[in-house]
Amino acid sequence: MDLTILVGTMTGTAQLVAQALELALEDTDVRVTVRPMDGLAAEVFAGGGTFLVCTSTYGQGDVPDNAKHLYASLQDERPRIADVRYGVIALGDRTYADTFCNGGKRFDAILSALGARRIGEILCHDASAGTMPEEVAEAWIGGWIALARSQAEVAA
Ligand SMILES: Cc1cc2nc3c(=O)[nH]c(=O)nc-3n(C[C@H](O)[C@H](O)[C@H](O)COP(=O)(O)O)c2cc1C
Repeated sequence: MDLTILVGTMTGTAQLVAQALELALEDTDVRVTVRPMDGLAAEVFAGGGTFLVCTSTYGQGDVPDNAKHLYASLQDERPRIADVRYGVIALGDRTYADTFCNGGKRFDAILSALGARRIGEILCHDASAGTMPEEVAEAWIGGWIALARSQAEVAA
């Protein structure tokens, strides 16, 4: 199974999470590619496949700066991406009650509107909870991969 982790980050936390997952999956048959969102556009989804969007939230519930171009490109170009399956790891802070994890939720909304299929629930991490996001993600990824595999079997 090939998995591309797209990283939206301002201060590097989401990148740390992606790297921890890459390491955690090293001895499995999941081939992980970690790609910072910088410079990416909607074409990154053109070939289909399995993606994990790992992104934080900034501003008024916005995606981080390095994710803005990709997000805007999905909104403007509106490609049909029915052969994309994806999960979302949304980093946020509950102190921002109204916009908690909105960056990840925004990607979820646009990807599903364009026909992509989400695997499982969004993993929302709360920076004020005192847990390490990479540890939470490492504990979560096994179940997510299993779900991705079982859904691929159903589709086949
Ligand atoms: C200026 C600023 C604005 C933020 N705005 C939000 C927000 O609206 N909603 C939210 O859930 N988290 C918000 N956060 C929290 C970050 O998303 C969270 O700390 C995240 O773990 C940072 O990840 P990163 O280092 O990958 O950018 C904000 C943080 C800062 C510093």
